Amino acid sequence: MDLKKLFGYEGKTVVITGAASGMSKSATELLLELGANVYAIDINPIDLPVTKSFQGDLSKKEEIDRIVKELPEKIDALFLCHGIAYFPGKELLVQKVNFYGQKYMAEQLLNRISDHGSVTFISSVGGFGWQQVYEKAVELINLPTWDDAMKWYEEHPDLIQSAYVFAKQCLESYVTYKCMSKEYIDRRIRINAINPGDTTTGLTEDFNRSTSPKGDLQEGEEMISNIFLKSWNGYAAEPKDMGYPLVVVGSDICSYMSGQLIYIDFGLTSTWTSGALLQANQKSIEEISQEANH
Ligand SMILES: NC(=O)c1ccc[n+]([C@@H]2O[C@H](COP(=O)([O-])OP(=O)(O)OC[C@H]3O[C@@H](n4cnc5c(N)ncnc54)[C@H](O)[C@@H]3O)[C@@H](O)[C@H]2O)c1
Repeated sequence: MDLKKLFGYEGKTVVITGAASGMSKSATELLLELGANVYAIDINPIDLPVTKSFQGDLSKKEEIDRIVKELPEKIDALFLCHGIAYFPGKELLVQKVNFYGQKYMAEQLLNRISDHGSVTFISSVGGFGWQQVYEKAVELINLPTWDDAMKWYEEHPDLIQSAYVFAKQCLESYVTYKCMSKEYIDRRIRINAINPGDTTTGLTEDFNRSTSPKGDLQEGEEMISNIFLKSWNGYAAEPKDMGYPLVVVGSDICSYMSGQLIYIDFGLTSTWTSGALLQANQKSIEEISQEANH
């Protein structure tokens, strides 16, 4: 079996953001290996042998418009991967970088995506519980213009206070809301997201610093480890643990997969879900296993 053919990227046009570092860089390396023509975008310079790279700030509508104009007329797979951590005072910036700019860019490029093409985002386990904000997220998603959305954010300071979480929850809401919308389903365009767990990347230091109330690197690292790793005596993922599955999701291998939020966290969020279900039923794991043994 020809593995390159199975992926279906050979000679295809791929656009990917955030490719200067971390998961997206790792995905870009694999896309190149698989023979894709890659157009890569980042706020920082990209040091990979892509077909064309663009430097630009994707939190800004004008910058997105400028880059969109220069991208190819036909795109087979679009990957939106860039992201930042949250620091106080940066609530709106986080919405623009981690969600709204990505939504805007996907919508500007949708008519160039080929039939049976794919749009794939990197969200996060941080978006876990997106169902709780779904109605509000859909309200935001349906606003007609960038300016309307900025006004909406201004009017909802309570929602954007949990900045990183809310942006990722909106992203996950977007995937589930759009997968069967006319513009996607009529041309069989797939839309999915991967939701990574703790991964060592260019963002790690910022995540650590921003998690500690005092901005203390070590305290933040311990807090993150307590939330994401301690319960399973776990370890942080490497960029390729996320970048490679991302490439698979956008490929022909997953030709019938759409609307999915794929948690790549060694089972952590599944455990959160099952724990919540057991709590809701007021049964402990011990009780369940005792029942099973009788
Ligand atoms: N690292 C983790 O533990 C983790 C966990 C869950 C989700 N994520 C998500 O994974 C994605 C990839 O991040 P990463 O961890 O590989 O970090 P990274 O910092 O290594 O990569 C992110 C890239 O996005 C680029 N970027 C940031 N702001 C930009 C902007 N305004 N315009 C254009 N490019 C911009 C950065 O320059 C960088 O190259 C992000 O969306 C992040 O939220 C990361």
